[in-house]
Amino acid sequence: MTQDELKALVGQAALNYVVPGEIVGVGTGSTVNKFIEALATMKDQIKGAVSSSEASTLRLKALGIPVFDSNEVERLSVYIDGADEIDHQGHMVKGGGAALTREKIVAAQSAQFVCIADESKLVQVLGAFPLPVEVIPMATTRIVRQFQAMGANAVVRQVNGQPLVTDNGQHIVDVNGLKIADPLAFESEVNNWPGVVTVGVFAHQKASVCLLGTASGVRTLTF
Ligand code: 5RP
Repeated sequence: MTQDELKALVGQAALNYVVPGEIVGVGTGSTVNKFIEALATMKDQIKGAVSSSEASTLRLKALGIPVFDSNEVERLSVYIDGADEIDHQGHMVKGGGAALTREKIVAAQSAQFVCIADESKLVQVLGAFPLPVEVIPMATTRIVRQFQAMGANAVVRQVNGQPLVTDNGQHIVDVNGLKIADPLAFESEVNNWPGVVTVGVFAHQKASVCLLGTASGVRTLTF
């Protein structure tokens, strides 16, 4: 199976976690795009979605799925999103699509985080994928230096030769060369640095379930 087919497989499997009659939390990325396509087949059975990005909002609306502001919704039963990497405890690195802050907000208002990913995303220790950090532009250089002092290499994400601007009007710093042995402590520490909006480690908002696409089908991990 191709990676695209594995993404479609887990996107479809995630429908089993959608609660009829309710609003579902929807993440961002190519795997979630498969889930959104699948969700459209049951759009008459749900009230709508809370979305984690402008990109997902556009897709949801184009398929006729109502999108609610997160402030209008007190609690979601389930949030469905991809990951750049996930460890065997359900801790993740996210933000490859630059949507990490809104993703963490929707995850925090959800009772359950269902991660959908292909098996290449499963790792022993977080750090194989560059770690995205959303930062306030005024603080970028100092934050890059702080990561360098930890022995890592940090760069500002660019689009067409310019710093990428997130849905929140901020920048993304991508950090290479980290081994994140204690994701909970690391997330708390970096989130405390002045100018950091959100670090892309999801340990406090970790997955409770991961639907992993493998050549032999969907493997379900529970944490
Ligand atoms: C976006 C994310 C995505 O969930 C993550 O990058 C995985 O994306 P994909 O499903 O395209 O591999 O965190 O900010």
